Amino acid sequence: MLKCVIFDLDGVLVSTDELHYRAWKAIAAKLGVPFDRSDNMRQRGVSRMESLEVVLEKSSHTFTEQEKQALAQEKNERYRSMLSGLGPDAVLEGVCDTLAMLERRGIVLAVGSSSRNAPEILERTKLADRMDVVVSGLDITHSKPHPEVFCKAGQRAGVLPRECLVVEDAATGVQAGKAAGMKVLAVGAAKDNAQADFRFADLSEAQSSWNGIFAAFEDSCPEPGAG
Ligand code: BG6
Ligand code: MG
Repeated sequence: MLKCVIFDLDGVLVSTDELHYRAWKAIAAKLGVPFDRSDNMRQRGVSRMESLEVVLEKSSHTFTEQEKQALAQEKNERYRSMLSGLGPDAVLEGVCDTLAMLERRGIVLAVGSSSRNAPEILERTKLADRMDVVVSGLDITHSKPHPEVFCKAGQRAGVLPRECLVVEDAATGVQAGKAAGMKVLAVGAAKDNAQADFRFADLSEAQSSWNGIFAAFEDSCPEPGAG
């Protein structure tokens, strides 16, 4: 039975994935290395330092640990300056209706994000109060595709992995959800991901399919002793 939906944040609930892209693009331009949307696809779901490596791999220069820390900090400062203008209008299409529907059905709502900025983004967009559980980059040691973030969210929600649905826009996030033993609904950049159990362009397109999604949890996850 479906009891908990764990949402990724950037690119699933909020359009901050675009702000990450712009901030990294500026860092790449400063370093004189090419950087495009396909590079950015590989940054989705992974930590800030791992995202930096995607930019640096195109440079012929070898960066010291100190230089890397300084670049990651500069990216975060650029990103955070863009966050200062963030409000509820950054919430993506279909999100509010989906949260309302899940609330009506008594589903535990959770966020599982690799971002250390997640708590602030949830506050700014007025999503914080709607979430029962938030696990962010501040709470984890391993970023996606490691399942840690989703396992922790499920544990804090007091549910079993097979009772959870992960909503993701990153290939690494889909992988993490499956590794956690959960079903995965892929949207946005991951909408064609073959590993996902359900695929939609966005949560608005998923809207009419939730009865089927709930039913899939009844079919494949019989309760112990049921039947
Ligand atoms: C994820 C993004 O949500 O958060 C990644 O998809 C990003 O691209 C990661 O690198 C870490 O974010 P932050 O805000 O801690 O730099
Ligand atoms: Mg994402």
